[in-house]
Amino acid sequence: MKIILSGIQPSGALHLGNYFGAMQPAIDMQSLGQAVYFIADYHALTSVSKAEDLRRYTFDVAAGFLACGLDPARTILFRQSDVPQVHELAWLLSVVTPMGLLERAHSYKDKIAQGAETNHGLFAYPVLMAADILLYNSDLVPVGKDQKQHLEIARDIAQKFNDRFGSVFKLPEPVIREATAIVPGVDGRKMSKSYANIIALFGEEKEIRKQVMGIKTDSTPMEQPKQIEGSVLGQLMQAVSPEAYKDFVVQGATPGVGYGDLKKKLLAEIELRFKPFQEKFRYLQTHPEEVNAILHDGAARARALAMPVLEAARRATGLSS
Ligand code: ADP
Ligand code: TRP
Repeated sequence: MKIILSGIQPSGALHLGNYFGAMQPAIDMQSLGQAVYFIADYHALTSVSKAEDLRRYTFDVAAGFLACGLDPARTILFRQSDVPQVHELAWLLSVVTPMGLLERAHSYKDKIAQGAETNHGLFAYPVLMAADILLYNSDLVPVGKDQKQHLEIARDIAQKFNDRFGSVFKLPEPVIREATAIVPGVDGRKMSKSYANIIALFGEEKEIRKQVMGIKTDSTPMEQPKQIEGSVLGQLMQAVSPEAYKDFVVQGATPGVGYGDLKKKLLAEIELRFKPFQEKFRYLQTHPEEVNAILHDGAARARALAMPVLEAARRATGLSS
C-alpha cells in the first residue's frame, strides 16, 4: 500500500485558502493508500514565537482536519514533535546535504530578500522536511506549488544518502497541485495570513461576515451590470459553491443587484458549506481530550512506521550494528 504523506504548519488561523489549497485535497487522497498527515510544529517554530500561539494553532490544525472529514480510523494524524526521532534522521541527512543546495532554496532566499533575520532553523528547514518525508518511507507527497523545490531537495538528499551509505531510502514522488486555483483574499491578493486578507475557516459568525462584507469590489453602480467572472467575489463563489456560481454570474449582471447583495449571497453559501465543519470544530474545541487521544494514537502508529526506517539508516551509517 502506498504511503501518502503531507504536513501542514500550525502557523496561523486556518483560512479558506488553506482549506481549498491543502486540506480538502489531502482529505480527498485518504482513500488512495495509507495517508500520514502531520502538524509540522517544529517547522512552525521558525515563525511562531509565542508558546500559547503554537499550542492553539496546533490544536486548530488537528481539530480542523478532523472537522473537515479526515478519518482518524484510517489516516494517521499526528504531531511532528511527538516523533522527535525525526531529528536524528535530519542529522544523518545533513551530513550528506551540500550547503549550496540549501543556499539555493527559494524559501530561504525570499526571507533574506524580505530583510528577515535569518537563523539556522530557517536554513535547515528543507533538511528537516526531507527527514519528515524519508522517515515514513513515503511514496507520494502531495503539496502546493510553493513546496515543489523542497520536494526536489528531499529527493536529492535521499539520493546522496543512498549513494554514500547504500540504498536505504525510497525516492518520494511529489504530487504537485498545479491545478488548484489560488484562492484570492478579500483584497484580491493571494489569501494569506501574512496579508491580513483572509476569510477564516473557523471564525466566529460575526468575524466571517465582516471579512466577506469587506471584499474589495469596483465602483460599478447598483443599476449597472457587474462583471463577476474573474472578480474576487466570483472566484470565491466558484471555490465555495461551483453549483451556485452560474446563477451568481446572472445575478451580478442584473441591474439593481448591488455588491452588498452579492456578498450576502456568498456569505450564505459559505455558511451552508462550512457550517457542519464549524459545528464539528466547536464540538472538538470543547472536547480537546478526543483530539489529543487521536493525536496520541497517531503518534504511536507513526512511530511504528518510523523506527525500522531510522534503524536501517543508523545501520547503514555505522551508528548501530
Ligand atoms: P499562508 O499563505 O496563509 O501563510 P501557508 O503557507 O501556511 O498559508 O499554507 C499552507 C498550505 O495552504 C500551502 O501549502 C498551500 O497549499 C495552501 N494555501 C495557502 N494559501 C492558499 C491560497 N490562497 N490558495 C490556495 N492554497 C493556499
Ligand atoms: N513545508 C510545508 C509547508 O509549509 C510543511 C511541511 C513540513 C511538509 N514537512 C513536510 C509538507 C513534509 C510535506 C511533507 O507547507
